[in-house]
Amino acid sequence: QVIRREDYTPPAWRVPEIALEFDLDPARTVVRSRMQVERAGPGPLKLDHGGQQIVSIRVDGASAEYRDEGGRLILDLPRDSHAIEIVTEISPEANTELMGLYASGGLLCTQCEAEGFRRITPFPDRPDVLSRYSVRMTADRVSFPVLLANGDRVGGGDLPGGRHWAEWRDPFFKPCYLFALVAGDLKANRDHFTTMSGRKVELGIWVREADLPKTAHAMQALKDAMAWDERVYGREYDLDVFNIVAVSDFNFGAMENKGLNIFNSRYILADPETATDADFDAIAAVVAHEYFHNWSGNRVTCRDWFQLSLKEGLTVFRDQQFSADHGSAAVERINQVRMLRAAQFQEDAGPLAHPVRPDSYIEIGNFYTATVYNKGAELIRMMATMLRPERFRRGTDLYFERHDGQAVTCDDFVKAMEDGGGIDLSQFRLWYSQAGTPKVKATVRQDGQDAIVSLEQTVPSTPGQSDKQPMPIPLRMALFGAGTGAAEAGERLVVLDKERADIRFEGVGEAPVLSINRGFSAPVIVESDRDAAALALLSAHDDDPFARYEALQQLMLDTLIARVEAGAAEFAPVVDAVRLTLENPALDKAFVAEAVLPPSEAFIGDRMATVDPEAIHQAREALRAELGRLLEGQWRAAYLGSASNRFELTPAAKGARRLRSIALGFLMAGGAEDAPALAWDQFQGATNMTDRQGALAVLANSDAAQREDALAAFYARHKDDALVLDKWFTTQALSTRADALEQVLKLSQHPDFTLSNPNRARSLVGAFSANQRGFHSGEGRGYRFLADNIVALDAINPQTAAKFVAPLGRWRRFGETRGALMRAELERIVAKPGLSKDVFEQASKSLI
Ligand code: ARG
Ligand code: ZN
Repeated sequence: QVIRREDYTPPAWRVPEIALEFDLDPARTVVRSRMQVERAGPGPLKLDHGGQQIVSIRVDGASAEYRDEGGRLILDLPRDSHAIEIVTEISPEANTELMGLYASGGLLCTQCEAEGFRRITPFPDRPDVLSRYSVRMTADRVSFPVLLANGDRVGGGDLPGGRHWAEWRDPFFKPCYLFALVAGDLKANRDHFTTMSGRKVELGIWVREADLPKTAHAMQALKDAMAWDERVYGREYDLDVFNIVAVSDFNFGAMENKGLNIFNSRYILADPETATDADFDAIAAVVAHEYFHNWSGNRVTCRDWFQLSLKEGLTVFRDQQFSADHGSAAVERINQVRMLRAAQFQEDAGPLAHPVRPDSYIEIGNFYTATVYNKGAELIRMMATMLRPERFRRGTDLYFERHDGQAVTCDDFVKAMEDGGGIDLSQFRLWYSQAGTPKVKATVRQDGQDAIVSLEQTVPSTPGQSDKQPMPIPLRMALFGAGTGAAEAGERLVVLDKERADIRFEGVGEAPVLSINRGFSAPVIVESDRDAAALALLSAHDDDPFARYEALQQLMLDTLIARVEAGAAEFAPVVDAVRLTLENPALDKAFVAEAVLPPSEAFIGDRMATVDPEAIHQAREALRAELGRLLEGQWRAAYLGSASNRFELTPAAKGARRLRSIALGFLMAGGAEDAPALAWDQFQGATNMTDRQGALAVLANSDAAQREDALAAFYARHKDDALVLDKWFTTQALSTRADALEQVLKLSQHPDFTLSNPNRARSLVGAFSANQRGFHSGEGRGYRFLADNIVALDAINPQTAAKFVAPLGRWRRFGETRGALMRAELERIVAKPGLSKDVFEQASKSLI
């Protein structure tokens, strides 16, 4: 059944108050819900329900008539306000979908977004119904000594029979997707934060006792995030308590439940021994993200799920700004764009393309996508770029003030930007409604003393959208002298809002080279006629770090595509540009490490008409080998110069570790005789997971004699730490060796592999589907492996299973033979009886 945005109607009934009572037990939990309901319009009260057992429904104290219409309880109510009481029974330990109330590692916890609350108790499960909650829990005192819910704890005590109780009240109106409770044997890392108006907030990060030492980084990130949101957006926290709980079975990253965030443990737990620098950074980003939702999501929420980007796009943008402010801004931007290109550009180019504000869905869980999140964040960034900081802040201030306590739309946000920032965004709204990544052709020519930049945009057709309007594309651009590399004209912000435009730069002396989409100011694909010399020049002289990175990437990309298409290409310009980058003392290591890395095999494929994964792999390896060989001295210097025995999490220290492992990879690729020994020594001597895992990956991708020993040693050392064991699976799933598929098939039989833990499923199946060489090897056996796992996982956890479908949906891109094999697997999935609507939607749409 398809849900459409245009069919939105406001709720007929409000639920201003709800009191919930939970008699908690993993096998059988009784839930009593008492709701005060008030008529807001004509029609019956409609309560979504998740199929659990209903014990009783009473209206104003008397047992009531209701009917069940396709998963909805319909109550015809005579008056304008009523008291409803519903008792239901659920079994948390039987809940393998991990939506609603479920058991994880001895805990009981909830996940309600988007539509999990109905699996706890019948309710109008839609984000525009806002209620005040009180929650009373009773549970076994020994198994569940800690009882948490949203808001403030208002009471608790012991009960006969070894049980106890606690009651929590949340003074803020919230939609039911923000409801949460947790019961378990948890210990807290406690701290506090004093807000800008001087209120003291108790902070707690709740984990199993043994994990307490791994919570310091998350706590610091939380305090940094609270201070940052006050400083940058003027947003203050609003409750006396802020709790975070880490759980090991979780369908995604984390959840912003009011005052009680629940996290996938991988985004909380870290110490140098078990977490990489990337893990530390992801933890800070996700902690900040969920915290920022308190304003962008909770105080101001979504009217309906089509508006999801209202909170997610804005909150991703805010967490990106936070990360940029707390690390290397240039490297953060590089990583954001890499992620956007890897996930969102692919989505936009395939059968699952949808606008940032989708028009229809079968299962909303399928729309927690890179488009809604990451492209959504780029939309906010474009508005911020056009408005500049001060007016953007006036826009967000107005947005939060105008809509506090409301459930609103993406359009309400844009309107606040217009009214607060003083700008006309009518054409900009197209970015919310039109799917597809725009292409911008850019050329520059000299015209006397001036230079003229010609721009032309096209927005590709996407499923259901063929006729596209030109969009306003904000492009930061500058010109550099082709001979000297000197900046010729200062940076300008040009908004390309027509199909074509000519932009004149006055008084340009030398022949100009164009630097465009600096800082990646718009989420578009730029096609320019810049040759190798022009790109090399920018990679050496551009003063915008992103543009500088991009120039070298483009140079490598052009070279590799030429190599794949023509069988040969000159590597010398790339080698020279990489040498200059490595030898430039003005560049920091973190930047150099990212800049010298050739574009991924997947990204190269995205820019080709038909993808030949093996040919791309061979070309990229040939370039890596050449770079490794010809610049051996530079890699060695970078390797040795990046050693350190003190572990710090500063951007400089992280950059050094990153460059060290990348240099090691190039030494190995170039065939340096001592490279395997260096890798083994780094692996053995590592004092932190970044160095150890970095060396392991280099060995795992190689034929070195030390390979098996390293994998075995890593397993032996970390087999009891699930999050580290995930890395062991992932490193092998991503191996660039020809036998990756065979290894993955073997690993799927490993006793430590299971589909029932989402992190573990992602660590092998998800990772392997992103291994372009391995996944597309073996005459379709990689595809069959993925499809088998999708079907198996669908039976226990449809939401996570559906996330694995997209790689098969790229069948059009891989030529006839592979395409047919991929399609066949999709068809096999769709034909499975009893398929969830989650997987059905993704697989059936992928066939079109
Ligand atoms: N709101 C959460 C976050 O981004 C994610 C919830 C994901 N829900 C889902 N059904 N996929 O912070
Ligand atoms: Zn979010």
